[in-house]
Amino acid sequence: MSSLFDPYDLAGLQLPNRIVMAPMTRARAHDTVASEHMATYYAQRAGAGLIIAESAQVSRQGRGYLCTPGIHSLEHIAGWKRTTDAVHRAGGRIFAQLWHVGRVSHISLLEEGQSPVSPVAVPAADTFVQAYNANGQPGQVPVSAPVALDIAGISQIVEDFRRAARNAVAAGFDGVEIHAGNGYIFEQFINGRLNTRVDEYGGATIANRLRLLLETVDAVSWEIGRTRVGVRVSPFAHLYDLHAFDDEEATWLALAEALSRRGLAYVHASHLGTPEFEQAFRAAYRGTLMVAGGFTAETAQQALDAGRIDLGVFGRPFIANPDLVERLRNGWPLAEAGREAFYGGGTQGYTDYPAYAFAGAKKAA
Ligand SMILES: Cc1cc2nc3c(=O)[nH]c(=O)nc-3n(C[C@H](O)[C@H](O)[C@H](O)COP(=O)(O)O)c2cc1C
Repeated sequence: MSSLFDPYDLAGLQLPNRIVMAPMTRARAHDTVASEHMATYYAQRAGAGLIIAESAQVSRQGRGYLCTPGIHSLEHIAGWKRTTDAVHRAGGRIFAQLWHVGRVSHISLLEEGQSPVSPVAVPAADTFVQAYNANGQPGQVPVSAPVALDIAGISQIVEDFRRAARNAVAAGFDGVEIHAGNGYIFEQFINGRLNTRVDEYGGATIANRLRLLLETVDAVSWEIGRTRVGVRVSPFAHLYDLHAFDDEEATWLALAEALSRRGLAYVHASHLGTPEFEQAFRAAYRGTLMVAGGFTAETAQQALDAGRIDLGVFGRPFIANPDLVERLRNGWPLAEAGREAFYGGGTQGYTDYPAYAFAGAKKAA
């Protein structure tokens, strides 16, 4: 039986263990360029079998929050290069997460005169983002009304992902993860209750609603190679004013089948719903499956033993435990992260969490 601490061959990328660091937005890219501090933060966590870096917007249009990094300019590439170099020097591996928020955005984040985009011109109710308020100060503001994308706009999004993937490779990432979960652009198209378009990207058929994501997966795979591409999904999570829709289970299983046929590096689920659905999804997707959400070493090992996952993804535990893998391996205690430093700020609550041995040495001194 495999252990979380055994190596894993991820489509040719050798992982020393099966513990993956989840993508986590920490909102510390003050000018949208990945900073020196971000390089330090990720290098401290290089003991993970694989790091998935925080979401990076593929275009200015795809941006939904202040201080999140981009991956669409030469400055962005140079900024990320510091992170990938630092992680590789520390012996780690790192994928970029590619992101377009769709309608979850605010006009103050976008180019002058532009609105957020979405399959249909329906705003997300009760949804707030960190942007600039009416006084020009940073703060939580309700999302702005989106405009419906036309066909040229949809093609542009596919192109933006393709370019972002190329940029990620130029910046030294080992691969990319397409963010198709959490209520952002791809899920807005997949959700049949929101996406009432009448063209080939919407409406009643599952194939139409999956089209944008699959075209993007194919464009990105063509650009950088399918074995360097992962996809993140969150079936039944219904975030940001997305709701249950007809054929929902069939839609997600059709996606699992379609991704299976493409021979990608992996599929990553941050939510799967009922155990029955989880089983059906696992059967429909025949490649490497990684799952996130509330794991401890024990529950992740159980999931591995039961054949429910190939890799266990940990999010919050990595925030306060840069040496998480060593702590789990040795049964050392875990530090708790303070929520107030999750998003935004400087190095406090970010790069100042020590490794366990260092904390022990300090105590002894
Ligand atoms: C501070 C924070 C930021 C997050 N940012 C992202 C993100 O950028 N992209 C993403 O797909 N998920 C994001 N997530 C979700 C995590 O990847 C993960 O699925 C979630 O934290 C559950 O795992 P955990 O219980 O081990 O923390 C974020 C979670 C947290 C706590």
